[in-house]
Amino acid sequence: MRLLAIESSCDDTAAAVLVDGDVRSSVVASQDAVHSGYGGVVPELASRSHMRALLPTIENALRDADLTLDEIDAVGATYGPGLVGSLLVGLCAAKSIAFARRLPFVGVNHLEGHLISVQLEQAVSFPYVALLASGGHTALYLARALGDYARLGATRDDAAGEAFDKGARLLGLPYPGGPALQQLAATGDPAAFDFPIAAGVPGLDFSFAGLKTSLLYKVRDLGDGAEALRPDLAASYQHAIVEALTLRVERGLATAGLTRLAVGGGVAANGPLRERLAGLGVDLHVPERALCTDNAAMIGSAARWVAPLTEYGDLEVYASGERGL
Ligand code: KG4
Ligand code: ZN
Repeated sequence: MRLLAIESSCDDTAAAVLVDGDVRSSVVASQDAVHSGYGGVVPELASRSHMRALLPTIENALRDADLTLDEIDAVGATYGPGLVGSLLVGLCAAKSIAFARRLPFVGVNHLEGHLISVQLEQAVSFPYVALLASGGHTALYLARALGDYARLGATRDDAAGEAFDKGARLLGLPYPGGPALQQLAATGDPAAFDFPIAAGVPGLDFSFAGLKTSLLYKVRDLGDGAEALRPDLAASYQHAIVEALTLRVERGLATAGLTRLAVGGGVAANGPLRERLAGLGVDLHVPERALCTDNAAMIGSAARWVAPLTEYGDLEVYASGERGL
């Protein structure tokens, strides 16, 4: 089965080709340069950039896979959650290709894509606890089987990636904040400042709003002195995010009675987080960095066990909400 997968939920235009479940190509056209000066994704600019980038990205994915559109047997695309305008570009293009060629079409939940990215490199046996930490979502799941995930906890306010992005903005760094903040933190002292990790939030829920406010006040209190301390501020702030995530992961493993852990989402590309989780001594599975951030290979992978639509008009995009995840 030769599947073309498309992902456009936020600010990455991505296409991939999978042949019998193996990733033959995966192309990501980043919009970082479009949004970097704004401190976050500007939805209208994201939609327009997707419109410009999508067809060339699909062509590149087909070329890299050494296939033509005539050789594709099925099409899959993200239908949510995400930015509605961005989602519409990818979903409409994917449905149009499928409809015009009478191919099966599969709509994929973006969160399931992140949850499944870990299975792309090697099969991870079920059950396991999965941490999904991205720019839009942060949650802990009990993964029982392919397509069978029970949510154990989720963020009460900001996502972990959002915390990175907002913290980076406070420190004068460009969007996306995660990689920039990690780089600045590399020369700083993670113990220089004591930022909160929402230890008071019981159970398996996350909260990052207090942390962000704490950095805001710290920068304000330091005044002119903040500039010289930016690496220390970044390192301590990153340390708090890593510890907040690790605390819930440890609680989640204990609650589920499991020692197998998988991680996904853009924040899973963070070096200190990867090292911290590796130090837990559990059976840890982390995708390579390119599979942590948004990509279409994970969407194609998840598409394999989602039933195709019988009517092309059946599926609408959605911005957020439950939908089983
Ligand atoms: O999964 P993703 O590409 O898109 C969403 O579904 O949201 O995640 C993007 C998020 C951004 O907030 C970005 O700052 C963060 O992942 N991120 C990182 C790193 N790379 C990306 N955060 C921390 N360290 C990184 N190295
Ligand atoms: Zn994502």
